[in-house]
Amino acid sequence: MINKEMKKKKVFLRTFGCQMNIRDSEVVVGLLRKSGYKICADADAAGAVIINTCSVRQHAEERVWSLAGSFKTDKIIGVIGCMAQNYKEGILERAPNVNFVVGPADIAKIPGILAKLAKDKGIFARKIYETDGIARPEEIYHTGFYADKNHGFVVISEGCSNFCSYCVVPYVRGALHHRHYQDVINEIKMAIDKGITSITLLGQNVNAYKDGNTGFTKLMELVNSIPGLKTFTFLTSHPKDTSIDLFKAIAGLDKLKKDLHLPVQSGSDRILKLMNRSYTKKFYLDLVDNYRKIVKGATLTTDIIVGFPQESENDFKDTLDLVKAVRFNAAYIFKYSPRPQTQAFKMADTVEKKEKEKRHKLILELQKEISGVKNVRIKNE
Ligand code: SAH
Ligand code: SF4
Ligand code: F3S
Repeated sequence: MINKEMKKKKVFLRTFGCQMNIRDSEVVVGLLRKSGYKICADADAAGAVIINTCSVRQHAEERVWSLAGSFKTDKIIGVIGCMAQNYKEGILERAPNVNFVVGPADIAKIPGILAKLAKDKGIFARKIYETDGIARPEEIYHTGFYADKNHGFVVISEGCSNFCSYCVVPYVRGALHHRHYQDVINEIKMAIDKGITSITLLGQNVNAYKDGNTGFTKLMELVNSIPGLKTFTFLTSHPKDTSIDLFKAIAGLDKLKKDLHLPVQSGSDRILKLMNRSYTKKFYLDLVDNYRKIVKGATLTTDIIVGFPQESENDFKDTLDLVKAVRFNAAYIFKYSPRPQTQAFKMADTVEKKEKEKRHKLILELQKEISGVKNVRIKNE
């Protein structure tokens, strides 16, 4: 009996997706610990299983569907994160053993949901859905839990309002919303008190940060002056919100690492337009020139999508040329994956799977040549 009670308080948590999801999982762990739960690395020993999910590409979703179906029904099973928001009750149709579904804006409710389900599960398996939340309560970021003892992810903005035509994020994460800068600074100071010395400021588009008169540059200056902080960096940047002024600020901040991740997505103006990226190849190349002139010793990484609808041989060649011209330190290369809801989904997925694979391989090989095998990060899902 004691064992059963102990098991109820143990949670197995598996995370898919981007750094935002990694941070959200930390937040969930922090909240669960406060409510007396323990996190365990072995799903068999846990009374509850939580899967924090990603919808950005179909492959990421497929991995979750098969994982969700693999757990025994004696456990409480929860699907949270972007797929939860994307499919809502639909999760249950495909994965009937799931007991609760919680979207990104409702993660604060998870400990309460587990407690409710632990009471009910034996008698009748109740299902709980929480996917209507809009804003997260600020307190969730102040549990003090960070998975790494030296480094902490700190969210500065949630959601995204850019609506790049291929991307599901604005639909599952909602509109761009900024945290108050005082809350961000307080969180960092508290993390430093706990021994953290390095921070990553997180958002889907950090350079668009704005809280009253405090923009991203001002925020970075405030972060840079926090005593005890040794280094910091930020993720992710959108070229349209990146400027010479930003580069000058980057160059002047001693604690800021000089690593910029600046997703280009394509080197073809035609495809960039169809992607709703609102910049041209020339704009991007000029940015890179300025960045390298202004920020000495800087590194540059990127994301590229191959096989976007209508991407011709010529469009693809433009991307290859851009990769050759820029010489990124590393690149994440993705095969286009049609996402229902998005604008691009309405366009026919014209580039055949084989052709996408060919283009993926060609860029990968080119990038390998440029950066040396060690630095090429291959992400295929
Ligand atoms: N906000 C960040 C991260 C978005 S998701 C940004 O704008 O950079 C991370 C990467 O996944 C994107 O940069 C893009 O290259 C890729 N991606 C997004 N949607 C995709 C899709 N439908 N198919 C393939 N790759 C996609
Ligand atoms: Fe998606 Fe574009 Fe927003 Fe990035 S900026 S999350 S690619 S919509
Ligand atoms: Fe991140 Fe995937 Fe959601 S990339 S925001 S976890 S759809």
